[in-house]
Amino acid sequence: MRTQVAIIGAGPAGLTLSHMLHQQGIESIVLETRARDAVEATIRAGVLEQGTIDLLTEIGVGERMQREGLRHAGTVLRYDGRDHRIDFAELTGGKTVMVYPQHEVLKDLVAARLATDGDIRFEVSEVSVHDIDSDKPYVRYRDSLGNTQVIHADFIAGCDGSQGVCRPAVLASHPTFHEHVYPYAWLGILCHAPPSSDELIYAHGGGGFALVSTRSPRVQRMYLQCDPQDKTENWPEARIWTELRTRLRTHDGWAPNEGEIFSKTVVGMRSFVIDSMQSGRLFLAGDSAHIVPPTGAKGLNLAISDVCILARAFIPFYKDSTRTLLDNYSATALARVWRAQRFSWWMTSLLHTAPGADQFQKRLQYAELDYLARSSSARAVLAENYVGLPMDFPV
Ligand code: FAD
Ligand code: DHB
Repeated sequence: MRTQVAIIGAGPAGLTLSHMLHQQGIESIVLETRARDAVEATIRAGVLEQGTIDLLTEIGVGERMQREGLRHAGTVLRYDGRDHRIDFAELTGGKTVMVYPQHEVLKDLVAARLATDGDIRFEVSEVSVHDIDSDKPYVRYRDSLGNTQVIHADFIAGCDGSQGVCRPAVLASHPTFHEHVYPYAWLGILCHAPPSSDELIYAHGGGGFALVSTRSPRVQRMYLQCDPQDKTENWPEARIWTELRTRLRTHDGWAPNEGEIFSKTVVGMRSFVIDSMQSGRLFLAGDSAHIVPPTGAKGLNLAISDVCILARAFIPFYKDSTRTLLDNYSATALARVWRAQRFSWWMTSLLHTAPGADQFQKRLQYAELDYLARSSSARAVLAENYVGLPMDFPV
């Protein structure tokens, strides 16, 4: 079997890449270890940057997002019992974000690929990549019936997340990476309740960070800073609501709307950036190349901007064999990744309570929050990064 680009992983990166390549007349096959239902049901990210909204719309998969997504023109920073609104639209010349869950983006992408006879192979196993440093790379895997298959391709796109096989394949020849582990994690919950706020609330409060997000008029998403070793069993409903009320309390008595909690997960917090996003004919995109802590809501958006850069680099190769953009892919993508990594680290440090922080560190953190409350320039820096820095397209 042969294709032009073999794509490993049907997450946001792999599916968007496959769709964008199809629109340029470039063939791909997507291999995914999980079943379609599982891919479409995994609860993860919720916030789409302006550039992601525009791209999904431009490539024709944004119709349901535009209809059902919740456009947010600002966010609330809460500390010391007071709210400080960051007006994204005003501070960035009209840019906003969209709350539209990642699994809904995935449903739209899978539907769009299948509607144009896209080749997505779910429930494969034992995926391995071979001869990536030659011009005849290939992928071997076992299909859902247990038969071994081989796909020969011009290129392989490693979109298989942080636990896939493509990251180790690149590290084998380019072993450098940069990592930082944070001393906190998030307990994420979903509950049946009406929204507590029109906009997301990022709160630095007694006992740690809390975040109020939303999913729909009847389902709400909230996060609480917890210990990285913590387990969901340690968080019965009553404890979660007590903590949320404490961390989110304002001087005028604000409290979240409560309702039955039907999902709880502990999410670790890590920064990771690989030093090269390519090795020979294997290109990494999304979480396979980098991980950001969730505070800045950048992970899904970075996966999309990587594949946008990659898809545009494949076009001149297939048009007239020009390789310059492909050769520069890693450098182009990493420049933006590091800026997003910086913002995610900064926003994480700004809002969490670091175990063991001394008074000096606490006063600095408070001064940083206070600066944001008082300075529209400081708020503009936050807003510009939150709605998403421009994508660096190769020219
Ligand atoms: P993934 O989504 O991980 O997709 C990889 C796919 O590859 C998976 O479907 C996997 O099953 C498959 N796969 C793995 N190994 C193999 C293999 N060997 N062969 C074939 N297939 C394989 N980001 C944001 O931008 N905004 C947010 O608000 C946000 N919130 C988050 C909240 C939570 C709780 C979590 C956990 C993450 C959040 N993120 C957020 C991060 C975001 O979800 C990820 O960055 C994003 O999913 C990365 O997309 P991806 O396509 O690179 O990888
Ligand atoms: C959500 C997740 C985030 O990481 C974030 O910063 C904001 C919102 C969410 O899942 O809704």
